[in-house]
Amino acid sequence: MESLHELLRDPLYWIGAVTVAWLLLCTLCFLFNGIRVWIVGNGNLVRASRLGKWAVVTGATDGIGKAYAEELARRGFAIVLISRTQEKLDEVSKAIESKFNVETKTISADFGCTDIYPKIESGLAGLEIGVLVNNVGVSYSYPEFFLSVPNIDSFINDMININITSVCQMTRLVLPRMVDRSKGVILNIASASGMYPVPLLALYSSSKAFVDFFSRGLDTEYKSKGIIIQSVLPFYVTTKLSKIRRATIDIPTPERYVKAQLSTVGLQTQSNGYLPHAIMGWVTTALLPTKVLTKYVTKVCLSQRARYLKKQKQG
Ligand SMILES: NC(=O)c1ccc[n+]([C@@H]2O[C@H](COP(=O)([O-])OP(=O)(O)OC[C@H]3O[C@@H](n4cnc5c(N)ncnc54)[C@H](OP(=O)(O)O)[C@@H]3O)[C@@H](O)[C@H]2O)c1
Repeated sequence: MESLHELLRDPLYWIGAVTVAWLLLCTLCFLFNGIRVWIVGNGNLVRASRLGKWAVVTGATDGIGKAYAEELARRGFAIVLISRTQEKLDEVSKAIESKFNVETKTISADFGCTDIYPKIESGLAGLEIGVLVNNVGVSYSYPEFFLSVPNIDSFINDMININITSVCQMTRLVLPRMVDRSKGVILNIASASGMYPVPLLALYSSSKAFVDFFSRGLDTEYKSKGIIIQSVLPFYVTTKLSKIRRATIDIPTPERYVKAQLSTVGLQTQSNGYLPHAIMGWVTTALLPTKVLTKYVTKVCLSQRARYLKKQKQG
């Protein structure tokens, strides 16, 4: 009894007890949040009946964009597909109309150019847009030192126009009517490469960091007006851009990725979109020291570069 009283009078005992209670509380919150996002999810929010008739997807003819167009059509949205190649747009729009029995509209535009927005604006005029997916994006054909990137001058313009300007301009065109209707969802597809600097993909990585910051800032500005703006940060997904064909648990197909991602809308302002990616995001940002992470990422990119250049040499 005497020793218990002594223990309770010891400040170290209370520091320890408060620390353990705090860690327990943090763990419980972490688990509760994980269950809410990854097990329960918010699968019913993104529906045409709740948000409005049309969904607009940029870069909609391939990969992740095509998977968004299909999944949103399955959820009852009429789809505006925007991409560069009209034949591919026609093919995808026909397939979506016949499979999901929804209206579609196509707009061909090269997001590498900056004079396309009046054309897109008139294509979208009068539509009740519930969802905008700013998906279009390009990356390096292989990791490279900045000054050695082939055609660096046009590469810089293309990457900034496609990855950054498109997100700002499409948001400028679509957001005002969402604000008038006090509802709407904008999904900005950034990348896990935007969560920390990726040497040898510096321009891509920083363009995606812009998309992430822009989304999070805007979400705070327009949340009170009923608009959700989410920053989506995938790791690898099997698409042309990633040049990965075989899906694994940590590299999903675009369809699997998009299904999982849509369940996180309204629950996370910034999301890796898919549970294994969220775990990878947590390990790389919360557990690994920045120096270790940068060293590892640089090593991976250098070895990808060496492999690519060797293949090129072999012809
Ligand atoms: N795949 C991944 O592992 C991964 C990981 C993280 C983030 N992301 C991001 O996810 C987004 C989609 O990537 P993805 O892998 O699905 O790419 P993808 O398979 O290469 O598809 C890109 C789409 O964008 C269109 N597009 C490309 N350049 C265009 C341009 N200048 N103007 C208009 N449309 C253009 C393409 O249409 P056309 O064929 O007609 O040009 C195609 O529909 C990108 O923002 C990317 O950065 C991807």
